[in-house]
Amino acid sequence: MRIPFIAGNWKMYKTSAEAAAFAVAFKELYHDTDVKAAICAPFTQLETLVKAFEGTGIGVGAQNVHFEKEGAYTGEISAGMLQEIGVDYCIVGHSERRQYFGETDETVNCKLKTLLPTGIIPILCVGEVLEEREAGREQEVVRSQVMKAFEGIEGTDAEKVVIAYEPVWAIGTGRTASPQQANDMCGFIRTVLEDLYDDVISDRVVIQYGGSVKPENATEIMNMEEIDGALVGGASLDALKFSEIINF
Ligand code: 13P
Repeated sequence: MRIPFIAGNWKMYKTSAEAAAFAVAFKELYHDTDVKAAICAPFTQLETLVKAFEGTGIGVGAQNVHFEKEGAYTGEISAGMLQEIGVDYCIVGHSERRQYFGETDETVNCKLKTLLPTGIIPILCVGEVLEEREAGREQEVVRSQVMKAFEGIEGTDAEKVVIAYEPVWAIGTGRTASPQQANDMCGFIRTVLEDLYDDVISDRVVIQYGGSVKPENATEIMNMEEIDGALVGGASLDALKFSEIINF
């Protein structure tokens, strides 16, 4: 049984004071629910959120990690550093990191391998750009991203990874993939996992949709058969909107 999981990705928004204020407001709004929730915040806000959400069941995630355990990598943060402060999740391979910061399928694979032994759950982002969808290549692109990300990873580890299907053309554009398009790709990703592993493992992996999810479209998206959750950008910055999405 896959538990629905909705995570916010704050990207490079919110100061520590703003994060603390969000946590106070969101805790009030997040009641007993069958949906798991988490906020993926900038590094400097993680400790504030871990403390603020202690005992609430609300998870905290980072948005990136370096794949080495330690070393001369100025400006980078290791999985052990995230683990030490109690981080639960880490986004890997977000399209903004692929586009602006040189993230590749190979570094994504290394990052999954560095996170999994720490118990931090990777949220692996995959998704095609507009030209690829217009050329009818979206499945080929996503299949390749998934296969490369999981290279050399055992099934018992693979089943812990959350996958977020984020079509790049639907991020921050207000242009949502239709629930059917999102559902079809999430279902397709599950068949790729079945080919890579088996149907038991593919059945356990939580697959989210991300791209312009908001309170107005959350119910329709979350009710789709193959979609287990959402990765929410803009609408997760507002405690009320994010709670409305969670209570879809
Ligand atoms: P928006 O919800 O702002 O479109 O962002 C989606 C996203 O990139 C989540 O990781």
